[in-house]
Amino acid sequence: MSAITTLFTKTCRLLIGSGAALVLTTAMTTSASAADIATTYDNSCAACHDSGALNAIKKGDSAKWQQLIQQKGMPALINSVKSGMTQMPAGGLCDNCSNDDYRKLIDYMSK
Ligand code: HEC
Repeated sequence: MSAITTLFTKTCRLLIGSGAALVLTTAMTTSASAADIATTYDNSCAACHDSGALNAIKKGDSAKWQQLIQQKGMPALINSVKSGMTQMPAGGLCDNCSNDDYRKLIDYMSK
């Protein structure tokens, strides 16, 4: 029994290990790198968050962004972008953004 458990644990570790490597490779090829965050922002989020169109919180309105980050928390904000809101299209017009990209974009807008 314990031998099977050990084997199972090892297999799981192996699976998790290769899964992580896969995620890493995918992230490196398809998602924006840190340097591209400004470009990604310009190409997607800026359409609304630059001008405050449709009542979107403006980039640089740190007080409002900090309040939102504190109230809802970063994971909830990332989910809002991914699933969309009343006025914001799901994904925020970024087709290949990862959770990490969204986190960086939100961070970028909050400054
Ligand atoms: C078509 C306009 C539009 C685009 C494009 C857009 N947003 Fe938004 N966003 C909004 C509006 C409007 C709101 C305010 C909530 C609402 O009424 O939908 C909002 C709210 C948010 C919020 C707050 C969510 C919450 O839970 O309160 C975050 C975070 C956010 N946007 C991030 C982004 C990011 C990151 C991008 C780019 C990848 C983006 N948005 C692109 C319009 C947009």
